[in-house]
Amino acid sequence: MKITEINGTNCKTYLLEANGHAALVDPVRERLETYRAILAQRGLTLDLVLETHMHADHLMLNRAMKDALGACVVMHQASPSPLVDRHLKDNESLELGGEEIKVLHTPGHTPDSVCFVTGGAVFTGDTLLIGGSGRTDFPGGDSRAQFEAVTKRLFALPDDTVVWPAHDYKGKTCSTIGNEKTTNPRFAGKTCAEYIDLMAHLGLPFPDKIQQSLQVNQSGFEADEVAFPLVTDIAKLEPIEAKALAKWIASPQKPLVLDVREPEEFTGDLGHIEGSVLVPLDALEQRLPKLHGYADRDVVMVCRAGARSATAGAILQRAGFRRVVNLDGGMLAWAAAGLPVQR
Ligand SMILES: [Fe+2]
Repeated sequence: MKITEINGTNCKTYLLEANGHAALVDPVRERLETYRAILAQRGLTLDLVLETHMHADHLMLNRAMKDALGACVVMHQASPSPLVDRHLKDNESLELGGEEIKVLHTPGHTPDSVCFVTGGAVFTGDTLLIGGSGRTDFPGGDSRAQFEAVTKRLFALPDDTVVWPAHDYKGKTCSTIGNEKTTNPRFAGKTCAEYIDLMAHLGLPFPDKIQQSLQVNQSGFEADEVAFPLVTDIAKLEPIEAKALAKWIASPQKPLVLDVREPEEFTGDLGHIEGSVLVPLDALEQRLPKLHGYADRDVVMVCRAGARSATAGAILQRAGFRRVVNLDGGMLAWAAAGLPVQR
């Protein structure tokens, strides 16, 4: 497997080549044309787009760019994105030009963080950085899970495995597992409790526009500047657990359940809640006039992981809906609770 970092910035995208077939790890939206030029120049067929996690710091591919690249987008099954063609499980294997790419689920920076292992190399995303690790204070972050993932999964790889991170802010390119084990100040000689304490006191500023990037990435929106309300700008949506929602739906005062996923997700693997109404997030603004008859009813927003539905809920709140509740964890949580679905 030939590996090239092709952004030349502190936000890294890797081109993987094997026997004329290619994969991009963590492509950045604004560099699409560069990627296409490199692929054409090298005569490569792009088979896979491998995302290590739901990014908050840059815009990921949108639907038009995904179609232009024509590759299969893969992410962990916990990813909230509607643009994923193949959802990954821990220890699953992918194939590129006859070579194997193994998936390790390494939650902590985000719930959907994975590392990709292939031919003596590991793409660590924001799970393990050179001399550092990805922050765990974004939504869904978990320092304990990250410590376990790094020390038990990544550090179990052979010492000479080359580490390719998603970021480096000091001009470094790669490291090795052996080197990180002995020199990474966040892990070398640290206990899990010490790590959790350290991560809780990093005092990092919240990056500009993180919520915009996240909401665009989670929704697959086409535009960079979409006129959606930021979830943080609005009184937080009331969350509801899957089992509590199931009871509520069975009661006489049942709410309107609005599912804001794409049609293929509504009828796909996870199915949908009986009686729920499908209004994909990108069509919600246009459908508001028709939905206005429900403004005085209780409305529960539903999506895959509870992220897009938070944006959708904020849109309804802005439009004057009286009570908007968000299904916590989305259909993934509904399925995990063993509740019935329709397809
Ligand atoms: Fe990240």
